[in-house]
Amino acid sequence: MTAESPFPPGFFDRSDTSGDERFYVQPRLVTHIDDAAIAAVGELYEELGLQGRVLDLMSSWVSHFRTPPAELVVLGMNDAELAANDAAAQRVVHDLNATPVLPFGDDEFDAVTCCASVDYLIRPVEVFTEVARVLRPGGTFLCTFSNRCFPTKAIRGWLMTDDEGHCRIVATYFLASGAFDPPVVDVRIPPGRGTDPLYAVYATAA
Ligand SMILES: C[S@@+](CC[C@H](N)C(=O)[O-])C[C@H]1O[C@@H](n2cnc3c(N)ncnc32)[C@H](O)[C@@H]1O
Repeated sequence: MTAESPFPPGFFDRSDTSGDERFYVQPRLVTHIDDAAIAAVGELYEELGLQGRVLDLMSSWVSHFRTPPAELVVLGMNDAELAANDAAAQRVVHDLNATPVLPFGDDEFDAVTCCASVDYLIRPVEVFTEVARVLRPGGTFLCTFSNRCFPTKAIRGWLMTDDEGHCRIVATYFLASGAFDPPVVDVRIPPGRGTDPLYAVYATAA
């Protein structure tokens, strides 16, 4: 751990060090969390009133909104997955690990979501800072996740800790960006309920 970084050396290493375009070249038209967890994500989107122009970061063919927002922009690695996302108005293939800068202008979005994917970011604080830039002031950035991942592509720091630790990691990303109000950690489905657990960490752009 250094004075500048809250993360120890090696925290963002991954066992598969090849470019993400290799891993994601093949479309995966599957769901990455179970139906109960998907329903919990949609319920939270509705509860938080995520509407208007919304960016779904690290997206695939489903974005989990009960009612799609007026304008949904999806950003991910695989064009066939994004093309199959019926809720999307705009689709952007963009590698956040190669280029954390988002290809959007300032204050363009009312909300940003990221489901089941934050564990793959190797430069998360840069990405979170960018999310704050493209969000209008007061707009919400919501990360949701369960307890599953592609282990070769998840960062070592994520693999080394438990679900509570994952919530702390994501909260630290928000805090380290210095661009959000204090984050909220919300256990939407606790473990041991017979479904995938579902965790949410979110904050509003300062
Ligand atoms: C486990 S899937 C989750 C997909 C979707 N968010 C969901 O809830 O079903 C991980 C997603 O992260 C995206 N992803 C992984 N690495 C990425 C990167 N470097 N830049 C942008 N997106 C990435 C992939 O395109 C993939 O769709």
